[in-house]
Amino acid sequence: MSFDRDSSLRILVTGAAGFIGSHTVDLLLDIGHDVVGIDDLSRGHRVNVKAARHRGFRLVDDDLLCSGVLADVITSFQPDAVIHLAGLTGIAEAEKWPHRNRRLNVDATRLVAEVAAGRGVRRIVFGSSAAVSGEPEPKGELGRAKLESERILEEFAGNNGMICVSARMSNVYGSRQDPEAPQAGVVTIFADRCKRRLPITIFGDGTQTRDFLAVQDAARGLMLAATRPEVPSGALDLCSGTTHTVLEVSKLVRSHFPKGPKPVFAPARPADITHSTVDPSRALEQLGFSASISLEEGLRGLIDPGVGALRRAA
Ligand SMILES: NC(=O)c1ccc[n+]([C@@H]2O[C@H](COP(=O)([O-])OP(=O)(O)OC[C@H]3O[C@@H](n4cnc5c(N)ncnc54)[C@H](O)[C@@H]3O)[C@@H](O)[C@H]2O)c1
Repeated sequence: MSFDRDSSLRILVTGAAGFIGSHTVDLLLDIGHDVVGIDDLSRGHRVNVKAARHRGFRLVDDDLLCSGVLADVITSFQPDAVIHLAGLTGIAEAEKWPHRNRRLNVDATRLVAEVAAGRGVRRIVFGSSAAVSGEPEPKGELGRAKLESERILEEFAGNNGMICVSARMSNVYGSRQDPEAPQAGVVTIFADRCKRRLPITIFGDGTQTRDFLAVQDAARGLMLAATRPEVPSGALDLCSGTTHTVLEVSKLVRSHFPKGPKPVFAPARPADITHSTVDPSRALEQLGFSASISLEEGLRGLIDPGVGALRRAA
């Protein structure tokens, strides 16, 4: 099969039943690509890909680190590209379980690269994170592991002629993000708490800034990186390009619930990044990507069940 933008491609998505993975699967199917996913359902949910399965999507519900699983899938499916999203997402979780973080956020990437390179896959798009930022090194376990993964992929790209794109996503929010999961972001958590008339907790003084990316935009960026043949190897930020303080997000969410309780403040968490330093210019230049959904709009979709709902309300 030629790697042509206009023809249907075979794309393997790891972490396909998760939050970003399942939206990416939906978008790839919409465009007409042939999609297979791997997910051990440790965090993902079968329901996230239920509709996709009716549209020809196949899910391998297994641990990709288990001996032979990935090799079997890649050998039989022969994907043109792998979008690697299986991993540990929460900053706090990565601090608590550094071993698990390394297994999922470093070892799994190395395995994907090795197996893909050995079987002629030409492109890997990696779900990296804005948490890699920090001078001289990222602040927390998650950022360090993601950066190590990026370096592994750079090496594979250099030695094997593969294209490896590390998409450093900012804070992604939207439907199917489980507000109860430890890795859920503030937009989803705040929206869920306000819906249930519960106070929201702000860690630190709330002046920390974040770039928030709607999951539909994240999926589009990943799709472009996986399907555009001209996109070169390297890292780029997948972000909205607009920052908000956590206080602003709290205000915005609470404006939909004027009678809700006041926020509660708690001590800052050590691994949290103080200010977002993401830059949308490389994604614009190389993918033609710019975010299309503002935080206000994305939030309306999340809060109004008629427009788009939290996972459990969907
Ligand atoms: N959500 C965000 O804001 C965000 C931001 C930046 C980067 N990322 C990265 O994007 C990726 C996807 O994030 P998400 O928010 O969709 O998380 P998620 O937890 O919803 O999705 C990850 C999926 O991977 C699966 N998985 C985990 N270990 C596996 C294994 N060994 N084998 C097979 N499947 C496995 C889980 O079951 C889950 O469905 C992660 O790598 C994360 O670090 C997420």
